[in-house]
Amino acid sequence: MSKNRKIIIAGNWKMNKSIAEAEELTRNITMELGETSEVDVVVCPTFTALKSVGDIITNTTVKLGAQNMHWEAEGAYTGEISASMLRDLYCHYVILGHSERRTYFGETDEIVNNKVKAAIAANLKPIVCVGESLEQRESDQTKDVIKGQIEKSLAGLGENLDKVIIAYEPIWAIGTGLTASPEQAQDVHAYIRSILEEMGGTDIAQSIRIQYGGSMKPANAEELLSQPDIDGGLIGGAALDASSFAGIVNAGIQK
Ligand code: PGA
Repeated sequence: MSKNRKIIIAGNWKMNKSIAEAEELTRNITMELGETSEVDVVVCPTFTALKSVGDIITNTTVKLGAQNMHWEAEGAYTGEISASMLRDLYCHYVILGHSERRTYFGETDEIVNNKVKAAIAANLKPIVCVGESLEQRESDQTKDVIKGQIEKSLAGLGENLDKVIIAYEPIWAIGTGLTASPEQAQDVHAYIRSILEEMGGTDIAQSIRIQYGGSMKPANAEELLSQPDIDGGLIGGAALDASSFAGIVNAGIQK
């Protein structure tokens, strides 16, 4: 089946940039990209910079995303931010279950599942991250790990399964400069799509966008994005520089 999904490139700025730096990066990105609309472009700054970045991109095609949220709507959850608070800031997307959250903050698939449901209920598009460690890849557990993460993180969504975006991010490739080869990534992406098909049927599985993440940069983006089941990128390090981020977006337009 031909690929008719729109490429989506999202920048995950992680815990980087002051408000002033985030504003400068955003202005540079919008200048580099102009009126780009062939590719969906998302920037995910820290919570503290969401408002300022959101104000700059209001009249552009770039959309705002957050890096995390809590699943409850409100209440006594010191330090947390809810989906409706993100909507209040005109966020359209939220990254959920990033491996750094799973590893450093103990997020389980069950927690991610609660967050995914809350995000969808608030009309936020979740970017749900999955990926294996180096040890798991070397001991041939990649597909089992991915299957478990997808099935549990996306459990019970029913028809709403089509609202999610998935990011396949092999942990060994994140921030390491190591990238999965296009063949390695395609192999896992096709596998993820087959699990989605089991969960929601062919039409839904064919419509869901699956991003690759892990040291994606302008030099490797086009080859990765040319793979039949790779529908975008979740970019960390290279998203902190306007021209490299724009280079990846342009690779998505060209392919
Ligand atoms: P990286 O990060 O591009 O710096 O490898 C990707 C991510 O963690 O989302």
